[in-house]
Amino acid sequence: MMTNKALIKMIGITKNFPGVVANHNVDFDLYPSEIHSILGENGAGKTTLMKILAGMHQPEMPEQLSSATGPSKFTRLRIR
Ligand SMILES: Nc1ncnc2c1ncn2[C@@H]1O[C@H](COP(=O)(O)OP(=O)(O)O)[C@@H](O)[C@H]1O
Ligand SMILES: [Mg+2]
Repeated sequence: MMTNKALIKMIGITKNFPGVVANHNVDFDLYPSEIHSILGENGAGKTTLMKILAGMHQPEMPEQLSSATGPSKFTRLRIR
């Protein structure tokens, strides 16, 4: 049972670039001590999602991204 609070909560993340939808309605939660791998073919949107997490890109609706520490903290920790 997962009782800890999520450190990262991404809800319905969408990111559009001109002519392409890089991320479409992506949910991602991370709880303490979890390790995740993000898998997908070239162009699937892995890097874009991680750049949103790091604060390097803004999703279409930024209020759908939340974390316990905030994007600037992730950037300082060099999670990119
Ligand atoms: N800065 C950008 N400007 C325009 N299109 C981008 C940019 N970054 C990524 N893309 C496009 O978004 C899609 C997802 O790319 P990306 O997140 O790099 O995928 P992955 O890391 O899974 O290979 C691709 O179609 C890519 O060409
Ligand atoms: Mg990539």
